Amino acid sequence: MAVVGSGPAGIYTAEALTKQAFGPVEIDVIDRLPTPYGLVRYGVAPDHTSIKSIANYLKRVLETPGVRFLGGVELGTDVSAADLLTCYDAVVYCTGAMVDRKLGIPGEDLPGSVAATDFVNWYCGHPDMSPEAFSLDVPAVAVIGVGNVAVDVVRIVAKTAPELRETDVPEPVLQILDKSEVREIHMIGRRGPEHAKFTTKELRELGDLPGADVVVPADEAVVPEGDYPRQIKNNVTVIQEWAERVPEGRPRRLNVRFWLRPVEIIGTDRVEALRLERTHLDETGSVVGTGEYETLPVGMVLRSVGYQSVPLPDVPFDNRAKVVPNRAGRVLDETGQPIPGTYVAGWLKRGPTGVIGTNKSDAAETVRSLVADIPGGDPGKPRLDDLLKQRGTAVVVYENWLAIEAAEAALARSLARGERVKLVGREAMYATFTKPAHP
Ligand SMILES: Cc1cc2nc3c(=O)[nH]c(=O)nc-3n(C[C@H](O)[C@H](O)[C@H](O)COP(=O)(O)OP(=O)(O)OC[C@H]3O[C@@H](n4cnc5c(N)ncnc54)[C@H](O)[C@@H]3O)c2cc1C
Ligand SMILES: NC(=O)c1ccc[n+]([C@@H]2O[C@H](COP(=O)([O-])OP(=O)(O)OC[C@H]3O[C@@H](n4cnc5c(N)ncnc54)[C@H](OP(=O)(O)O)[C@@H]3O)[C@@H](O)[C@H]2O)c1
Repeated sequence: MAVVGSGPAGIYTAEALTKQAFGPVEIDVIDRLPTPYGLVRYGVAPDHTSIKSIANYLKRVLETPGVRFLGGVELGTDVSAADLLTCYDAVVYCTGAMVDRKLGIPGEDLPGSVAATDFVNWYCGHPDMSPEAFSLDVPAVAVIGVGNVAVDVVRIVAKTAPELRETDVPEPVLQILDKSEVREIHMIGRRGPEHAKFTTKELRELGDLPGADVVVPADEAVVPEGDYPRQIKNNVTVIQEWAERVPEGRPRRLNVRFWLRPVEIIGTDRVEALRLERTHLDETGSVVGTGEYETLPVGMVLRSVGYQSVPLPDVPFDNRAKVVPNRAGRVLDETGQPIPGTYVAGWLKRGPTGVIGTNKSDAAETVRSLVADIPGGDPGKPRLDDLLKQRGTAVVVYENWLAIEAAEAALARSLARGERVKLVGREAMYATFTKPAHP
């Protein structure tokens, strides 16, 4: 079996295959990156070390007999969907959601208007992102969106470099964070506190930052009476407590705002301000503008309004829902019929929502479909290894990844920082092992 993508969905799929298959099964987990774990490595915030430790569980799956990690192999560049169907009894696509959703407002492409996907990749040391990509050389920053990614981004901007020293943030990124000139951070929701997507535990952390005062305008913290679910009640309680706080003169100030939608990012050569319109809900529950505007002077706008999946070559894609069309993980063609041997799991299957654990049950569902369809394998299939060798594709095998991990631990020791410091760029990663292997 081939699993494309080694994030939580891919690895939980591999685990479910080892558990649900009727007999021994060989599973290759392929990833375009030389490193496994997807957003667990390049998404989960560096200061959330206990969440990051889920990698220890995922590691055990990759070390299960019959499971192989093949890094540095990109679907669409190094292998095609047809190659995979030739070499394996089934393919499960788990490539996640790698790009940002657009706001669709003027000024969105100005320098200084940054997608959260890029900013997260930057502080997480993603090899596609240069460590010099951003500098926080502006006094005020706006973060659009009130989901958990926005909360992560705000926290990283609000924290001081010494607070992040023990994390795996790449050293050059930490140095840029250390020179940050940001004093004012605005986090902006287009609806009310009762509609915000963040979870209370993550929200509370923002109120406990030693270096930042949290400020909420009292009128924006008001919510209508109602029987809200527990998480919403808890969020509202936190926000209303913040609205009563008196700023203590800490170095940074975090303004948490509601009922404001971005209408224009203003600037000539780069971002100079963000224009917002006050909102309310109409009788259908849609967000509408009131015609009342407010302009925030900011030098950077971080757009954290959700991720989205991209189509994979020769794999069906629903361009409206931005997912691979499927029924219980079976990929469907344009007539709605399942394509033999082709499956999907994770964010690519259901969209960019849900925590890491959500992908476990999701992957298990896909694997139930797969095992029901394909009870036994065909031993006569050609091997992907031979194909990759013929094409000269340098594959990063699991042992190579362990060498990268060891080098990151050694770097952390040499810098007297925490357990690991991320290496910057593919070259530095490939330099940690003698040569990429042909498996
Ligand atoms: C910024 C951020 C922070 C988060 N923090 C948390 C958190 O703290 N706690 C929590 O529970 N959840 C968190 N989540 C949610 C969690 O990360 C997701 O639920 C989960 O990662 C989705 O898993 P996935 O495997 O579908 O996608 P991903 O984790 O994105 O994995 C996809 C993998 O596919 C690979 N890939 C992509 N294209 C190709 C290709 N063409 N060929 C080969 N490989 C390819 C990628 O390199 C990647 O490794 C966070 C999400 C984000 C965006
Ligand atoms: N610690 C954690 O557990 C953790 C950390 C990070 C991420 N995650 C998970 O990862 C998933 C993705 O998180 P996310 O924050 O990217 O997405 P999200 O939870 O969907 O939040 C997106 C935010 O963007 C807003 N938004 C969307 N379009 C907008 C627009 N045009 N203008 C203004 N605001 C707009 C949304 O507001 P509306 O509601 O009004 O649309 C919402 O506040 C979530 O399931 C999240 O819980 C978890």
